[in-house]
Amino acid sequence: MKLFVLNGPNLNMLGIREPGIYGERNFDALIAYIKEVCNRENIEVECYQSNHEGVLVDLIQSAYGRADGIVINPAAYTHTSVAILDALKAVNLPAVEVHLSDINEREPFRRHSYPAMACIAQIKGKGFAGYEEAILLLKERLSQ
Ligand code: DQA
Repeated sequence: MKLFVLNGPNLNMLGIREPGIYGERNFDALIAYIKEVCNRENIEVECYQSNHEGVLVDLIQSAYGRADGIVINPAAYTHTSVAILDALKAVNLPAVEVHLSDINEREPFRRHSYPAMACIAQIKGKGFAGYEEAILLLKERLSQ
């Protein structure tokens, strides 16, 4: 079983960026956490981060035929990107959307997600643990 974990804009700034919302741990710590979970669960993983919408679309497309599922934190593109929604629909792989913060408890514009329409679940407000939950959910789905 192989997963792609995709992270969108400004998530490379974790640790520096609004630590009161996103926590003190940096992006490298997030990737180490994801790799540890996947290692423990016997899942192959490729992790990517981009600040560019088109690059995220390319990465989703490249998952087709190479990965069994996608964990994605589209970051700000969550609230704007029909292109990411369409890419997820195009590859038709099971995908789970993750947010470190609880997007329902913040500014009203964060409540709406385009990519979530092509995801089997949206996990929010659980910090790094949300990625673990997403990985386990996909593992369960893919083992059925
Ligand atoms: C985020 C929430 C988004 O609203 C925001 O634009 C981000 C991060 C999160 O992980 O909580 O960049 O996706």
